[in-house]
Amino acid sequence: MTNETHVWWKESVIYQIYPRSFADSDGDGIGDLNGITDHLPYLAKLGIDVIWLSPVYQSPNDDNGYDISDYRAIMEDFGTMEDFDRMLATAHRLGMRVVMDLVANHTSDEHVWFVESRSSRKSPYRDFYIWRDGHDGEPPNNWESVFSGPAWEYDEASDQWYLHLFSRKQPDLNWENPQTREAIYDMMRWWCDKGIDGWRMDVISMISKDQRFPDGQVGPDGYGDFFPYVVNGPRVHEFLREMNQEVLSHYDLLTVGEAGGVTIDEAKHYAAADGSELSMVFQFEHVDASLNEPAPLVGKWGTGKASMPKLRAILNKWQMELEGKAWNSLYWNNHDQPRVVSRFGDDRPKWRVRSAKMLATCLHMMKGTPYVYQGEELGMTNRHFSSIDECRDIEELNIWHQAVEELHMVTPEQMLACFDHVARDNVRTPMQWDASPNAGFTTGNPWIAVNPNYAEINAAACLADPDSVFYYYQRLIALRHSMPIIVYGTFHPLMEESEAIWAYERRLDGQTLTVACNWTDQPQPCPLWDDEPGTFVIGNYDTHEPGILKPYEAYVTVR
Ligand code: GLC
Repeated sequence: MTNETHVWWKESVIYQIYPRSFADSDGDGIGDLNGITDHLPYLAKLGIDVIWLSPVYQSPNDDNGYDISDYRAIMEDFGTMEDFDRMLATAHRLGMRVVMDLVANHTSDEHVWFVESRSSRKSPYRDFYIWRDGHDGEPPNNWESVFSGPAWEYDEASDQWYLHLFSRKQPDLNWENPQTREAIYDMMRWWCDKGIDGWRMDVISMISKDQRFPDGQVGPDGYGDFFPYVVNGPRVHEFLREMNQEVLSHYDLLTVGEAGGVTIDEAKHYAAADGSELSMVFQFEHVDASLNEPAPLVGKWGTGKASMPKLRAILNKWQMELEGKAWNSLYWNNHDQPRVVSRFGDDRPKWRVRSAKMLATCLHMMKGTPYVYQGEELGMTNRHFSSIDECRDIEELNIWHQAVEELHMVTPEQMLACFDHVARDNVRTPMQWDASPNAGFTTGNPWIAVNPNYAEINAAACLADPDSVFYYYQRLIALRHSMPIIVYGTFHPLMEESEAIWAYERRLDGQTLTVACNWTDQPQPCPLWDDEPGTFVIGNYDTHEPGILKPYEAYVTVR
């Protein structure tokens, strides 16, 4: 028995759209809002409940919209506010909700707040950002930004430095200032009043900084690590509870915090079942697991692949420990994380479809709210990088400049091999709609090259094939809607000693759902159904042989 409160966002499946790469309606090579509206029936067919839109606000695009210059305007490349309103109304009419990206740790340096702030030490907006004096021409401390190089930028006119944990065009907002917070809340209310259905909160675990700004531990490239002084910072929960009081609690919203560095104990606060902060968080432990096996060459850049037992240990732990205390989000990839079938599965043609379905089963039968990233439902794969010229992401361009060109820490070949594994551009290639030129994404020149495998892997092909990854996701999503045990059942791990099979049970009101997934390309013995066959729920083969899981087989029953 579980006495979990029943709410729509626990019963939903979320689909993430990266607008730049989803669908281009006007031939400029960049996805846009009308492109999204055109494809809403496709999403309705998939059966998803909620769309999460990566940022569509006005932005100079230093970090593809995660650098906002006006929170209340739409990026020109993407269309107009009327286009947005039409997209929102159409989604609602088709029964889907829309969650927006809240990027409030930082703005663009072109945001009027920052332009004002920079204009003089006396500006009323000065304190909207984090300005400090340097030491003898050096920055206030040794922190390294996420996108390489120092986390402080010198402003000659006012002879001070501003903090930017990401690019120098993404100055960090000063959450210590109550006026900054009120300005953010006011903007959030404006969007909520428009009728949006929630927020995905960008790097929300980093909004509260240790005000002493101490030096961090120095890494191989000579910079210091800001993590201990920024992640889950001293006032983060206070700020989120305030935001909840001021804004969130007045609307019916799904809120999910992107919380790099979040621990289970911290998550119990961020996503507390009492609703005092957010609905749920994105934790990073499982996606970061690959990064240390073997050790990366520099920063996050390596070619490691996490083993199934390691991934299982992490996700099983989150399942068990949040039970009854906080709600999990379930994801394999997003616009920052490589394609799951390449990263954790097997993207060789022989196994790609089977493996993609197995991974989906393994995740979607767990307890929590599942997220599908555009193209995941087609089994889209990573791409191959043969030159830096193929890269668009500021993170790749900067690390290339620093580690390859400036410090000679890695060779170009080594870096490109790392890109093949973990570069964010792997997931930012255009959505593959059909086999026509540029995968039907655009009639123009795409802003980033299409993955060459689009002729084979695309939505039209999937829709024409009843056995496709698309229809498998459709079934998984429909099952979640029809079987409360998938939403609310408690989680119990099985066969934890197996090197090959990830298995678990869900239990609710005397019912048991049994899930087993073979993560290898070999048949594996599986005794789970020896005593009782149970009733078939879903699987990725036409037949199931007792006592065995075929290569990449996923099999689910209920009794
Ligand atoms: C988050 C976003 C990422 C962005 C960064 C800075 O991690 O998901 O895409 O680059 O924050 O906003």
